[in-house]
Amino acid sequence: MGTKSVYLTAALLSIGAGAEAESTDEQTWSEENIDRLMSRMSLEEKVLLTSGRDAWSTQPIDRLDIPYIWMADGPHGLRRAPSTDTWGYGDQLPATCFPTASALSATWDVGLLREVGSALGDEASALGVNMLLGPGVNIKRSPLGGRNFEYFSEDPYLSGKLGAAYIEGVQARGVGTSLKHYVANNVETERMWANSDVDERTLNEIYMTPFEIAVREAQPWSVMACYNRVQGVYGTQSPDMLTARLKQDWGFEGIVVSDWDAVIDRVEGIRAGMHLEMPGKLGHLTNKMVIDAVKNGELEEAQLDRVVRDILRVVLRANAVADSTRAQDLDEHHKLARRVASEAITLLKNDGAVLPVTRDRYRKIAVIGEFAVNPRYQGNGSSEVRPPRVDEFMDIVGQEYGENFEIEYAQGYRLSDDADFTLIDDAVRLAAEADVALVLAGLPLHYESEGIDRLHIDLPPSHNHLVDAIADSQPNTVVVLTNGSAVATPWVDSVPSIVEAWLGGQAGAGAVADAVFGKVNPSGKLAETFPVRLEDTPAFLNFPAEDGEVLYGERVFFGYRYYDKRKIVPLFPFGHGLSYTDFAYSNLEVSSEQFSDQDLLTVTVTVTNTGDVAGKEVVQLYVKEEEASVLRPEIELRGFDKLELAPAESKQVEFLLSARDFAFYSTRHGRWLAESGDFELLVGASSRDIRLRQRVTLQSTEKLNYQFSEYSFFREFWSNPELKPLLIELMPEWLGSQAGDGGPGEAVIQDFLQDQPMIKFPHFTLGEVNAEQIRAFIAECNEMTYTP
Ligand code: BGC
Repeated sequence: MGTKSVYLTAALLSIGAGAEAESTDEQTWSEENIDRLMSRMSLEEKVLLTSGRDAWSTQPIDRLDIPYIWMADGPHGLRRAPSTDTWGYGDQLPATCFPTASALSATWDVGLLREVGSALGDEASALGVNMLLGPGVNIKRSPLGGRNFEYFSEDPYLSGKLGAAYIEGVQARGVGTSLKHYVANNVETERMWANSDVDERTLNEIYMTPFEIAVREAQPWSVMACYNRVQGVYGTQSPDMLTARLKQDWGFEGIVVSDWDAVIDRVEGIRAGMHLEMPGKLGHLTNKMVIDAVKNGELEEAQLDRVVRDILRVVLRANAVADSTRAQDLDEHHKLARRVASEAITLLKNDGAVLPVTRDRYRKIAVIGEFAVNPRYQGNGSSEVRPPRVDEFMDIVGQEYGENFEIEYAQGYRLSDDADFTLIDDAVRLAAEADVALVLAGLPLHYESEGIDRLHIDLPPSHNHLVDAIADSQPNTVVVLTNGSAVATPWVDSVPSIVEAWLGGQAGAGAVADAVFGKVNPSGKLAETFPVRLEDTPAFLNFPAEDGEVLYGERVFFGYRYYDKRKIVPLFPFGHGLSYTDFAYSNLEVSSEQFSDQDLLTVTVTVTNTGDVAGKEVVQLYVKEEEASVLRPEIELRGFDKLELAPAESKQVEFLLSARDFAFYSTRHGRWLAESGDFELLVGASSRDIRLRQRVTLQSTEKLNYQFSEYSFFREFWSNPELKPLLIELMPEWLGSQAGDGGPGEAVIQDFLQDQPMIKFPHFTLGEVNAEQIRAFIAECNEMTYTP
C-alpha cells in the first residue's frame, strides 16, 4: 500500500536529515563551536568564506582549521573535475551516467529516485565531493526549453516530490545537494539577465511549489540561486525569494549558492540572504567591496554574520559526515542505471500489440538508425558525465537476444547530417524483408543543450523521412524515440507502435532492449504533455523572451492545465503510458464526503491487473474545484503511486490530502486559500484517462479579514449580505434615489455602476460621500472577517 505524505504539514527535517546518528554538543558544527569560531574570525576571514576559492571549492581558513567543501555537477551523475581549480569538461573523472531527469520523472517512482540519489551520494563520497549540484526542479514551461532534459516535469507537485526523494537519497549518504535553479528559470535564451515577468499567483502555484515541497520535505543543504531576474530582481539579490520565502516561510536551514557566475553585486546578495558566490574567480576583488561595505555601514555586520554562520554549519558538517570509504561501485551502478532506464520507458502507442517482440511472432528483426550503434544518452552542458562505458543497442540485442532472432542493422540516417536521405533506401529494403522493424530515432546531441533553447520540436528531417519510408514498407514498425523533452511525431498514425526511451544514461540501450523484447513490461508515464504541434503549446506566443522580458502570459495554465482548459487534444497527454497488461480501477473511497480544512482526507482505490503478465501501474489522483472564486485549472495532480501487480493481483492505494491540496494561491490575501465548496477527486491512469470520480465538500474554518481597497468594486459590497447594510448606511440618499418606490436596500444598480471602484462614488453620489468617508468605510470592512 502506498502513501503520500502531506507536504504542507510535513514536520521540518533538520539539516542532518538522512545522515547517520549525530550527537549535538560534540559536533564540529554545533552552535557552540560555530559561536567559538565566529568570535575568532576577523572581518576579512568572514568575507573570504562567502566566495568560492576556485571553480568548485569553498575557501578553507587554515588558521582556524576551517576546511573547504568540494562541489560538482549534477544532476544525473558526477562531473568531478580532476582538481577543484579545473573545469572538468572532457577530463572529468569517470562516473556512472544515470538517465537524465526527464527519464527519472517518467518512472514516477519516488523509491527509485531515492535509490539513484544514494548511488550518486556514494559516487560523490568516493570521489571526495561533498555537495552534488542537483536536482533541478524547474518547471518545463515549454518543450523548447533547452535544459528540459535536466528537469523533471511540467507539474509542480510531481517535480517537488521527485526532487525531495532524490535529495533524501543523496543526503542519506552524507553528501549535500543543491536544489536548482531557484526560481522561474525557464528559458536558456539570454539566461544571464532575462527577467521572468510572472505574476504572484503563478509564481507560487507553479514555479515555487517544487522548491517548496523539496525544501520542506528534504532540507537540501543548499539551494542554487538562478541567473535570471524574477519580477525585476536578480535571483542572487532578492531578499524576498532568498530570505522571506525560502528561510522564513519554508524554514530552509541550508545555504544559498549562486549559480556559477550569477552574482552581479555581492553586497546586495549578502544583504538579500545569498550565502556563497561561485565560482570564486574574482573573490580577491569583490571581497574588498564587501569588507568596505561593512566598514562604511552599507552592509550590517550582523547580516554578514548570519550568512557566515550558515556557511560554517554546512562546511563543518559536510566534512564531519564525509565518508571516503564509500565505493564508486561502477558495475552495480551500471545495473541500477539499466533498471532505472527500463522503469522510465514509456510506451506511447502499441496498436495491435505489435510489441513485445517475441519468438512466436517474429523471427527477423530489422534494427534501423544510427542511435543503435552510436547512442544518445544524455544532454549537453554542465551536466555532462563521462561514463566508464556506454551500452550500444546492437551489441546488447546481439548478446542478450540474438540467440532467438535474426537481427540485422541499417544506419538509416547520419547523425552528422540532418538532411542526408541517402541511407533510407537500404534501410527500407532491410525493413521490408524483416518481420518487424525497430526504428531508433530522436534528437541528436546538439538539439538539446544548456544555454540554448530549441527552435522547434521536430526531429531531424532525415529521421522523419526514414520513419515514413519504413512505415510504408513494414506494417510492424516500432519507433523508439530518444530525446529529453517532447517532440512532434507527424507519422504518428502510420506506425503502430511508439516507445519513448528518453535520455536513458549509459545503460539505456539495455533498457530499450528489455522493454522491446518483453523482459520488462513498460511502466513509464509522461511527466510532460506531448503536443501535436508547437503552435498548440501554452507558451508559444511568449517563448523565449522579447528584449529580455519573459512574459509568463499563460499564467497557471500551461502543460495539461492549458490543454484541458482550452480543450486542445494533445498528441499524448500528461500521465500517459501503456503497458503490456491492463489495469482495472475500483472502489474509490474517501474517509468522509464532508471535511474541513483542518482534516486530512484519506482516499483509497483498488487497482487490479486484469491481463496475463505482471506489470506496474502509476495511479494518479487529480483534484478539481467545481466553482472557485478565481479561474482554476480543470484538474491538478495531487497524488500518485506506482504499484507492481502480478496477473489477477489487486492492491489498494491510499492517498492523504490536506487543505493545501485543494488550495490556490490568493493574490488578494497573499497566501494559499482552500475555499469552502465542492471538489471532485479524479483517479486514473493519465490526466485524460480518468477511471473513477468522487465528489467531496470542503468547509473552511478560517476567518479571514476582508482585503478591500478604495479601488474595490461597488459590486463586491452590494452583493455581500454582510456588507450591504454598511453600504446603505454610507450612502442612503443616493441608494434611495436608485430604488424607485422601495427603500435604499431595494435599489437597482446598473452593471456599469456596480463595476466602478468605490473611490469614484463621491462623484456618482454627487457628493453624498467624500473620499475620506469611503476610505473609512473600507477600513471598517477590512476589520471584519469572513469564511472563504
Ligand atoms: C549551470 C548549473 C551548474 C553550474 C556549475 C551553471 O552554468 O547553470 O546548473 O551547476 O554551471 O557547472
